[in-house]
Amino acid sequence: MRIALGVTGGVAAYKAAELVRLLQDRGLDVQVIMTRNACQFVRPLTFAALSGHRVITEMFGEEGREANVESAIEHIAVAESLDALLVAPATADVVAKIAHGLADDFLTTLVLATRAPLIVAPAMNVNMWESAATRHNIAVLRERGVRVVEPEAGPLACGMTGPGRLASLEAITAAVLAALGIAGDLKGETILVTAGRTEEPLDAVRYLANRSSGKMGYAVAEAGRRRGARVILVSGPTHLEAPAGVQIERVRTAEEMAEAVLRHAGEASVVVMAAAVADFRPAEVDSGKIKRGNGPPILRLEPTRDILAEISPRRRPGQLIVGFAAETDHVVENAAAKLRQKNLDLVVANDVTQAGAGFDVDTNIVTLVFPDGTVKPLAKMSKLEVAARILDEVAAIRARTAPREVAG
Ligand SMILES: Cc1cc2nc3c(=O)[nH]c(=O)nc-3n(C[C@H](O)[C@H](O)[C@H](O)COP(=O)(O)O)c2cc1C
Repeated sequence: MRIALGVTGGVAAYKAAELVRLLQDRGLDVQVIMTRNACQFVRPLTFAALSGHRVITEMFGEEGREANVESAIEHIAVAESLDALLVAPATADVVAKIAHGLADDFLTTLVLATRAPLIVAPAMNVNMWESAATRHNIAVLRERGVRVVEPEAGPLACGMTGPGRLASLEAITAAVLAALGIAGDLKGETILVTAGRTEEPLDAVRYLANRSSGKMGYAVAEAGRRRGARVILVSGPTHLEAPAGVQIERVRTAEEMAEAVLRHAGEASVVVMAAAVADFRPAEVDSGKIKRGNGPPILRLEPTRDILAEISPRRRPGQLIVGFAAETDHVVENAAAKLRQKNLDLVVANDVTQAGAGFDVDTNIVTLVFPDGTVKPLAKMSKLEVAARILDEVAAIRARTAPREVAG
């Protein structure tokens, strides 16, 4: 995997050299980009020697030389080849530029041009960090889905003490690995994921279904496997290919899904119910094809099994249960009610009426709702990135609570 490391003009720029090594140790290919001011602190040669790549410092080719087409379009080429973009250390200046969408050098242009996840590790004087402008800019970044690795408190180069020191290089590396979905922090977990829709037969050829494509659940399965978990995927009908390394069980109806989930729930340390399971099914199923000539039939529906309500009371010690709530109105309120009623650890709520969210698209816009009343709205992002954020929360809950006691 390839990541770009943007180094900006702060005292902590020298620490980025060690960061290159740590990222390489995790198997990442690192392309370093420096702002002009960063070159005042550390020479590009240091990073070129460590990374094995020419360091990009200029938008229009090397200083003193005439701009050429290759260098002018380089930011687009780099932007498209990236799996993640890390800015460390990030000055107050570059944080402000990113927050406002400025693009007056290679790094800030790349930030706008790439769709890869962005991780920002600020480092600055405590007053700069606590200034109203920086607080606002950091909040803007977070709202947009940028991962901000908070600076630490301690003695600063300027002689003051307080928050502003670059976060530990381990914390920054962990944030990058989490953004790439390869953190390995779910090793030892068994994640049971449900995905897709169910089909409830009406007669021999017809069924009732919904628009769920399965993409969100498959993304959770993929993200879980990349992070080292064993994954069991119970999938409704879909055209998606099963992610490699995932144990898959294909089902059709809500009844079959309930049966499969209950069969596997005992092995799971985490259950993520992303499937859009039918709430109702036809009460009578005609074994043949209902004939047009007999006139329009009246359909009587009956409730299907409520899988979450069944597994929640039987949860094993330490088992975490994550539910999804696809809503069209009062999204957060409805999700919070579901969380309480079914005693869940997290509900991922989405307003399926929004463009770029919900069924059969590659992106999603979700809000995470927690039992303590915390609500975290996430920006529009790919379903794989949403999956990574959900699993970040699972890993965080696991880190806060007792060790797993789930039998394998
Ligand atoms: C010695 C020195 C140290 C600095 N350290 C920092 C710092 O740690 N954080 C920061 O935000 N700005 C720091 N600055 C100010 C930035 O270098 C300045 O805002 C610059 O415009 C940043 O440019 P860049 O964001 O394009 O790299 C420092 C300046 C000097 C002269």
